[in-house]
Amino acid sequence: MIITNTSVHLKDLISIAKRDRTIGFIPTMGALHDGHLSLVRAAKEKCDFVIVSIFVNPTQFDNPNDLANYPRDIDVDIKKLSDSGVDLLFIPSEQEIYPMPDRRIFDFGSMDKVMEGIHRPGHFNGVAQVVDRLFRLVQPTVAFFGEKDFQQLAIVRALVEKRNLQVKIMSGPTVREHDGLAMSSRNRLLTNIQRSQAPVIYKTLLEAAEKMDTLEVAALKKWVHNTINEGKILETQYVEIVDARTLQPIKKWSDAGSVQLCVAVFAKPVRLIDNIRLK
Ligand code: PAJ
Repeated sequence: MIITNTSVHLKDLISIAKRDRTIGFIPTMGALHDGHLSLVRAAKEKCDFVIVSIFVNPTQFDNPNDLANYPRDIDVDIKKLSDSGVDLLFIPSEQEIYPMPDRRIFDFGSMDKVMEGIHRPGHFNGVAQVVDRLFRLVQPTVAFFGEKDFQQLAIVRALVEKRNLQVKIMSGPTVREHDGLAMSSRNRLLTNIQRSQAPVIYKTLLEAAEKMDTLEVAALKKWVHNTINEGKILETQYVEIVDARTLQPIKKWSDAGSVQLCVAVFAKPVRLIDNIRLK
């Protein structure tokens, strides 16, 4: 596995790699787990040359403590990626990605005015800034994103469409711990008691999917909220039931053809997100 820190070197390597070959790209913020590695495996299956980036992007953090505490484990990450058969790892500095401050404002219409967009102001603008820059540097044929970050996936697809970027977006299913907790770099920040309660989130989402036939949308949201908060260790920030395509909240089950239940939950100060397809 080749490792580079500079975009100049990256460009050289890519121009050699690209001849007649497809490039698969997985942007990450490191502290890698099997969720990330599942995307690497998908990329290896679909593409000839696989590139991963590790960059903890400051512009997408709305909370300075979250940025300061974001887990970093570069040596272990390098070993995992090299063992997974990644061809090229890009670990840029902040200066390399943002030689000048990025002041671009992206407009995602109503898509970023819900859920994460409300509770993490500026978050998706930061995601769009870095993903746009990384795509321009790497010029991937296919880029892989996880369904765990359901709204992010929709925003990235919208970015590609809006800016007419020549990259195909593929998604991978959420990878979970044996007890159902969605894998996340932030899980390692949980205390033992929080970690033991955290599987309640996915368990509740699974049960909610069963209750769809008997409860209306508002009642189901309330049930999810109450069930997750019951143990007093977890506290929902939002519970939303949305049209999976537009991300807009629905009121009746018949409002949308495909429906996603999305939650953000505090195990303070850690914040976890998860989602499930209801129909
Ligand atoms: P990060 O949280 O490191 O995630 C990198 C990719 O891994 C994202 O596409 C995310 O959806 C996916 N992922 C995370 N946990 C997963 C899981 N349990 N199962 C499947 N996929 C999972 O998301 C980001 O970084 C950043 O916002 C980024 C896109 C890199 C821009 O900075």
